Amino acid sequence: MMWLPCGRASRRVVSSFSRRVFRSYFHVEGRRKFNVAAFMPEAAGIQGLSDRSTLQEFSVSNGESFWAAAARHRLSWISPFHTAQDCDLSRGRIKWFEGGKLNVSVNCLDRHVHTCPEKVALIWERDEPGSEVEVTYRQLLEMTCRLGNLLRRRGVKKGDCVTIYMPPCPLAVASMLACARIGAAHNVVFAGFSAEALAERIRDAHSSTVITVNQGVRGGKVIELKKTVDTAVDSCPMVQQVLVAMRTENPVAMTARDVDMEEEMLKEDVVCEPAVMDSEDVLFLLYTSGSTGKPKGLVHTQAGYLLYAALTHRYVFSYHDGDVFGCVADIGWITGHSYSVYGPLANGGTTVLFESTPIYPDPGRYWEMVQRLKINQFYGAPTAIRLLLKYGDQWVHKYDRSTLKTLGSVGEPINTEAWEWYHRVVGDGRCPVVDTWWQTETGGICISPRPSDPDAEIVPGMAMRPFFGIKPVLMDTEGKVLTSNNTSGALCISQPWPGMARTIHNNHQRYIETYCQPYPGYFFTGDGAYRSKEGYYQITGRLDDVINVSGHRIGTAEIEDVVNQCSAVAESACIGYSHDIKGQGVYTFVVLKKDVDVQETDLSRLLNDMVSKKIAKYACPDFIQFVHRLPKTRSGKIMRRVLRKVVERDLNGLGDLSTLDDPAAVQEIIQGHRELR
Ligand code: PRX
Repeated sequence: MMWLPCGRASRRVVSSFSRRVFRSYFHVEGRRKFNVAAFMPEAAGIQGLSDRSTLQEFSVSNGESFWAAAARHRLSWISPFHTAQDCDLSRGRIKWFEGGKLNVSVNCLDRHVHTCPEKVALIWERDEPGSEVEVTYRQLLEMTCRLGNLLRRRGVKKGDCVTIYMPPCPLAVASMLACARIGAAHNVVFAGFSAEALAERIRDAHSSTVITVNQGVRGGKVIELKKTVDTAVDSCPMVQQVLVAMRTENPVAMTARDVDMEEEMLKEDVVCEPAVMDSEDVLFLLYTSGSTGKPKGLVHTQAGYLLYAALTHRYVFSYHDGDVFGCVADIGWITGHSYSVYGPLANGGTTVLFESTPIYPDPGRYWEMVQRLKINQFYGAPTAIRLLLKYGDQWVHKYDRSTLKTLGSVGEPINTEAWEWYHRVVGDGRCPVVDTWWQTETGGICISPRPSDPDAEIVPGMAMRPFFGIKPVLMDTEGKVLTSNNTSGALCISQPWPGMARTIHNNHQRYIETYCQPYPGYFFTGDGAYRSKEGYYQITGRLDDVINVSGHRIGTAEIEDVVNQCSAVAESACIGYSHDIKGQGVYTFVVLKKDVDVQETDLSRLLNDMVSKKIAKYACPDFIQFVHRLPKTRSGKIMRRVLRKVVERDLNGLGDLSTLDDPAAVQEIIQGHRELR
């Protein structure tokens, strides 16, 4: 049984008194005349802040002072920083709070243990409803220290990188924080990734230590995570040890390099000296997809990331002390990092770790959980909302959702129908829906409806307003800033902010080329956006070959790379198409090698298996269309624009085909597409 501080834990210990006090404070805050000190204590000393919009303006025009004040107020420092900001976006040099020393785990744990040791830090919402486990700040600190000591004893040093392949659970959080405690970076890999994808990330991060569980449990099914790690590690010669925690009672085969993590933790001291870290030391790597076949390990550092996660968590969601924050993202994604772990814990909050699926055991799961755990802020993905909407309102109405105050959406555009349903049915028309736009690269939310004003207008399906310190700009195709409203362009951010990724692990040049060079002096997000007449932002989608399947980001080049490895395949082209539930589905065109004689259905199955094995299930093509040739320009570039139009059935929008090498290719594709769908 997984190591738990005290077995099935007691009910939440947050005092009902403090809850009442903060609830009423929250309501008053909305009505009262703007009082900057009450709203944002760190801004209290700033002169001339008469209302919320001046605070927003100040945070942008005086970013350095704003963030310095926030960093002093919100973080506990071992020694103070001397320079708030030293950044040059055009060269990809981003440094915040230089000279400052701190420890992130102390910020997330020790300081809360001093003030409220028995407050619940984590509610582990296990797969089986009603079997949740609560972990207090004192218990989480103890787990973290024992694990930190264990890692140290087993040779993990400051600056090393530990790969974590675990589902959301307290020991996964303790593993992240234990790395932070001893100054190692962590590299959490989503536990849905295949052995090969895991191996690629272990090798790129050069991890000699991996932490995992024997098995995962999700949607009533057991998932053999340790076996996946075994296969991955066989192709990672640098891995010296695998720490294995027991999520289920089932024993798994242990090899010489495996360590029984919980047994070893019990031998360790509960006090672990925190490493003294520079603000700009690495906190973690997180791999994400780009427009090439190779995932990139984005690097986030200590102080700036933590501050940004904490501040966005507090203000975007109006999180107040005593609230229960329910982010249902997996910890393997940036959303889980920033809003299940670092933001809430830095704020001394109570955060839910969701192990299950939205439809297990039935489509009422989220709302039954909201009722049982008394969740105040619920943060999820549009793909799940669209899915639940189809099951009908009765699954929502069955449960009491009166504790809900804010509903959040993340990861992909939320269509109006899903937004309205979320607002009207889930939130009973009384909870603001915050559509939050951000990325692995940005570290935290950058655009969302209510960063500064709990009463601000919200337009369905729009991310709307920049967060403090964020200055979005739209660029035209010539790289000029679009100054007017009611216009669309490439979304850039014009000045650095503390939460942004500092580099791509081992490849700073790729960082510069991807984010800094397309629009020199600006951070390029890869997304397009529309700015309305009123100046509100709406994200229109990726401008590169990255697609978003059920909120999971995947590069079409990654899928093509796998498909092209099949010996029967000459070449392929993969695109995203609009999908009712998943947001985008994967559509792949495949050209076979000459004289290959296979059944298309068999080959489709094989290709799907390959993608599932080499990347993950969610990346598998929904449609595979076999064609004799792909539409290409005379210089040999695949015209993806044409493929997209065919799949969207927009044959009038095929555009200029005069540069096509062989126009017959398009007719063949149109015909084949009709037959396939
Ligand atoms: O295209 C945008 C989309 O998701 C991308 C970032 O993916 P990832 O790094 O995996 O992080 C996801 C969680 C933050 C973005 O470039 N995206 C994210 N949020 C939204 C969105 N698209 C539209 N609306 C959003 N609210």
